[in-house]
Amino acid sequence: MNILLGISGGIAAYKTPELVRQLRRRGHDVRCLLTANGARLVAIDALATVSGHPVTTSMWQEDGTIPHIDRGRWAEALLIAPATADIIAKCALGLADDLLSTTVLALPPQTPWFIAPAMNSHMWHKPVVQAHIASLRAAGCQILGPVDGSLACGDDGIGAMLDPIAIAEAVGGQQADATRSAP
Ligand SMILES: Cc1cc2nc3c(=O)[nH]c(=O)nc-3n(C[C@H](O)[C@H](O)[C@H](O)COP(=O)(O)O)c2cc1C
Repeated sequence: MNILLGISGGIAAYKTPELVRQLRRRGHDVRCLLTANGARLVAIDALATVSGHPVTTSMWQEDGTIPHIDRGRWAEALLIAPATADIIAKCALGLADDLLSTTVLALPPQTPWFIAPAMNSHMWHKPVVQAHIASLRAAGCQILGPVDGSLACGDDGIGAMLDPIAIAEAVGGQQADATRSAP
């Protein structure tokens, strides 16, 4: 399956090269889209290496391609991990001011989509964030996590991103062959 992985600017972005590996181990082809803030938290070169594809960070391409359309057509599933409070709000409200939010809006309606929220507990519990999550669920988005854990901000509580293996299983199923290795 072609899985489009959108990575937004949560600290858990540093776990996404492992997420890509877990998806590839399940036989999936993975391409990454990265927000500008996400790019501060995970290396583009690491994602390109483990996915085997260039990473797309901008809508604006000098070769005339239109990534928010092309990638949406390519995708058989879209996953945003980590999903910040910001990208969750954009998706819930239909905002489209960067590559990832525009790709979500342009996604064909039959394409399954998933988000793995990750944020500080206070952010997660804010009524506005919960309202956005409810809107996305009503729109057919599958919400994976967050879970209780030790958060990067030093707090303990709900807000940690589901671990990469659990996300990969939810989106891409069980690993077909445990001995198979992705890069
Ligand atoms: C070090 C650092 C870690 C952050 N981690 C998170 C996070 O886990 N979840 C979140 O919602 N926002 C987090 N933020 C804030 C987002 O980066 C910020 O809201 C940003 O506007 C998100 O942009 P994006 O959704 O376009 O990537 C973090 C910011 C910094 C500086």
